[in-house]
Amino acid sequence: MTTVTGTGINRKDGLAKVTGAATYAAEHQIPNLVQGYLITASIANGRIKSINTQAAEKALGVIAVFTHKNAPKISKPSNNFINSKIYEARLPLADDQIHYAGQIIGLVVADSFERARHAANLVKVEYTTQKPIIEAKQATFKDAPPVFGEDLKFEKGNFATGNFAEGMANAAAKITATYKTATELHAPMEPHAIIAHWQNPNSLTVYEPTQWVSGSQNTYSELFGLAPEQVRIVSPFLGGGFGSKAFPWPHGILCAAAARQLQRPLKLVLSRRQMTANAGHRSQTEQTIRLAANADGSLKGIEHTAKSYTSAVDVFTEPCTGITAAMYAAPNLRTQQQLAVMNVGTPTFMRAPGENPGLWALESAMDELAWELGIDPVELRLKNETKEHQRKGLPFSAKHFTECLRVGAEQFGWQNRPKKPRSLTRDGKLIGWGMAASTFPGLRSAASAKVRLLADGTAHVLTSGNDMGTGAYTIVASTAANALGLPVEKVRVDLGDSLLPNGGLAGGSQMTASLIPAVMVACEEVLKTAQAKNAQEAFTTLRQSQRAAFEATGSSAPNQEGKKWAFQSWGAHFCEVSVDEEIGRLRVTRWVSVMDIGQVINAKTAASQIRGGVIMGVGQALMEECLFDPNIGYPVVYDLATYHYPTHADIPRIEVTFVGEPDLNFNPAGVRGVGEIGITGVSGAIANAIYHATGKRIRELPITPDKLI
Ligand code: MOS
Repeated sequence: MTTVTGTGINRKDGLAKVTGAATYAAEHQIPNLVQGYLITASIANGRIKSINTQAAEKALGVIAVFTHKNAPKISKPSNNFINSKIYEARLPLADDQIHYAGQIIGLVVADSFERARHAANLVKVEYTTQKPIIEAKQATFKDAPPVFGEDLKFEKGNFATGNFAEGMANAAAKITATYKTATELHAPMEPHAIIAHWQNPNSLTVYEPTQWVSGSQNTYSELFGLAPEQVRIVSPFLGGGFGSKAFPWPHGILCAAAARQLQRPLKLVLSRRQMTANAGHRSQTEQTIRLAANADGSLKGIEHTAKSYTSAVDVFTEPCTGITAAMYAAPNLRTQQQLAVMNVGTPTFMRAPGENPGLWALESAMDELAWELGIDPVELRLKNETKEHQRKGLPFSAKHFTECLRVGAEQFGWQNRPKKPRSLTRDGKLIGWGMAASTFPGLRSAASAKVRLLADGTAHVLTSGNDMGTGAYTIVASTAANALGLPVEKVRVDLGDSLLPNGGLAGGSQMTASLIPAVMVACEEVLKTAQAKNAQEAFTTLRQSQRAAFEATGSSAPNQEGKKWAFQSWGAHFCEVSVDEEIGRLRVTRWVSVMDIGQVINAKTAASQIRGGVIMGVGQALMEECLFDPNIGYPVVYDLATYHYPTHADIPRIEVTFVGEPDLNFNPAGVRGVGEIGITGVSGAIANAIYHATGKRIRELPITPDKLI
């Protein structure tokens, strides 16, 4: 066993964050700043018959009121994930149509937040209403388009190989089951917020939490007919994103447009309620899995169909079936994604989009099959491991899934597991053990970084790549420290500003795999420039020659190896639950996660990402659910009090171990991402443990107490 431990370095940005010195988007101090407040629709389907803004316009401190009647000018972006991307595709205030409750129908600008909010409440709106489609059972399904549009042939949801009907025939065991997930909210700690500051009609600075600084820069430039260099995006810190801050939303676009018209710096902060409707969510899903297996457990066929929902104003498919052909070997495979339109806000990417709900269904079904065949669920997974990605037709590079399962089973003590449901008890409660697999693709994109060696004996790394709380500051610093031969304290890191070299996207778990190789190249380059073996030699030269600094930029991009290999991270979760059936109370009492993510750059922040993913998965499994009023379409769950998610008291110690080897086919650092894999498989592991504890197979999330009584 090759155990990659990496090192345990404290967060570079930790002190700034806990002392309040880290500046988030809405905290930037700009002279002459004015404040915005959104006006939102109270119906879910129809039109605005009349909108009366007179009282609002006359209210104290009000500077302007924008509605569809006097919408500020915005150009249509290409909106294709390549040049630009916005969610939702309909531009804000485009017309009088209402497509979902909470849709933005206006913006008040005033000299204070309170005055803007007060005036927004004075706006009188009359609607003509149509019955909205809010409930899944009323929706009409069609074949889903590709998640990244027709241009980018990325993960397609629909795939078939072999003949599934043949696979089902003469199978020793068959499983057909339908699994559901609820609508989920990203609920980042930092709300969505923006300050748009036009220095002049051709120069815009946007302070906005974004996971993709260069993407945002391109998008805002297209929206306002500017060159990318005329737009600066400043996003040094994010209080979480989870996918909801990957692309600009209507409020950001509207804020920048209003600020241009008024030629005043304008701040707009969304309330939690507004975020529920206007800044994305994870669609509820319904998935059916059919498995066919031989008596020895080898799979003959896997069929996975998934349904999810999008809004009337954009297309987003929760790509649940994208992972199915990568997971287990089966000669006959069939996957299909369907999509329906409902009168809700546009869903979007949320931590492991597709992989997470997809594995909930697949890993539950695998557990059902294991019980049906009387095979240990770990053995069933070992038996069906696939050496190749069956949709891509490529072998996996540096795959250590087997090790994840074996090491996890050993650490957890899985071999002592009683082979019957309802056979473990403790203190009058039922105890159950469950496990499930984890996976997430290894992605990377082009990235650049600049390194400076300064005469004061420090190094400075600069890139637009950013840190949404994941630990990027820390690993950039430690990578540079290692490459330059410096203590990590001597390395300063600046992130999240489009004036810096393009550091790529903090999404798809790819920031580390994109940025770290670029930082390594930049360090090599700066030492070459200095004609030095390490930073100390370079510092000596600087002092002797009285130069201020050596500087170099390094870039790295995906290589040709992607044509030969499929890159994928792997893992396994093992957990224990206790269930008090009388009151339906469930506790997660033990957790072991073993992950293969290639090279681990910093064991401390990497383990934190896994723990964060597990905690978010516990929320999905047991608590998180955004419900919409079926009649009026308004979310009845809309803030951090009404959206139930785990607290520390709900979470046991989470043991995290990394196994595997550096994936050097993937990039020179051998590193794959770690941001999303932790959440995958968590809800399946919990439901499987609940079955072991109680004998009840629960196929609908969240597993709230009423389902356990
Ligand atoms: Mo992630 S859902 O790609 O931020």
